[in-house]
Amino acid sequence: MEHWIKDKVAIVTGGASGIGQAIACEAAKHGALVVIVDINDQGAQNTLDLIKKNSGVGTYCHTNVTINTDIEKMIKVASALGPIKYLANSAGLQTYGTAETTSEETWDQTMDVNLKSMFLVGQQVIPQIRKNGGGGIVNISSLQGLRCQKNVLAYATSKGAAIALTRSMGVDHAAEGISVNCICPGSVDTPMLRYGAGQHGNADEVIKEWGSHHPIGRIGSPSEIAKTAMFLWSPDSNFMVGHSVVVDGGLGSIIL
Ligand SMILES: NC(=O)c1ccc[n+]([C@@H]2O[C@H](COP(=O)([O-])OP(=O)(O)OC[C@H]3O[C@@H](n4cnc5c(N)ncnc54)[C@H](O)[C@@H]3O)[C@@H](O)[C@H]2O)c1
Repeated sequence: MEHWIKDKVAIVTGGASGIGQAIACEAAKHGALVVIVDINDQGAQNTLDLIKKNSGVGTYCHTNVTINTDIEKMIKVASALGPIKYLANSAGLQTYGTAETTSEETWDQTMDVNLKSMFLVGQQVIPQIRKNGGGGIVNISSLQGLRCQKNVLAYATSKGAAIALTRSMGVDHAAEGISVNCICPGSVDTPMLRYGAGQHGNADEVIKEWGSHHPIGRIGSPSEIAKTAMFLWSPDSNFMVGHSVVVDGGLGSIIL
């Protein structure tokens, strides 16, 4: 039987790196027509190379997800490719600081990239999905939207709000056959995490140490998050509405 995502357009923001790259590759593996949405041109080319190596179909649209006119252009490119039915919002920025040390600029940038982008992209993608008979949206929040480390005020706030945005969008569009859910990953081995780990010493050693705090004994891989995203897009999860799925190796469940 043909895979449900075959020949359907799947838009992946942040598709040039990490979790977004893994979602783009996983979708393409099953026959989706993938649109990589990012500002990192080299990373996007790497994702396209990975997709094409596996005989998948993908295209890249340089798009700043905080700019409406960029999103408009991206929608034109995506709809020329085929019926837009799926969206993963994985573009994101990790920022650090407390209420005292976070600058207003960092606060605004964190909110714009991690949160407002989900609203702006969703606003333009939802009518397309509706026109094409329904589909799914997966937002990448974070375990830090539910509980957090110290010194991540703006990031944790943006991720908590992404959970609320997902709930609200899910409730608004469920009856139209548009599912909206989010994933709250724990630590996942991506360039973003490696950059953070590098601030504390040798990245490999720090990641091993962080992994040991997860009950499963390691951090996650981007493909583990991508497989969850595929499930949330799939008809198998149709009864899940505005939900947040924690995929964290048990990190959020243990008292350290
Ligand atoms: N890696 C983790 O441990 C982890 C854990 C929980 C949640 N997350 C979340 O997962 C998502 C993906 O993170 P990742 O670890 O893959 O990070 P990453 O840095 O590897 O990838 C993020 C991508 O977003 C893109 N991006 C940033 N600003 C953009 C903009 N304005 N317009 C378009 N694209 C933009 C970047 O260019 C990059 O390709 C993020 O939202 C992050 O907060 C990551």
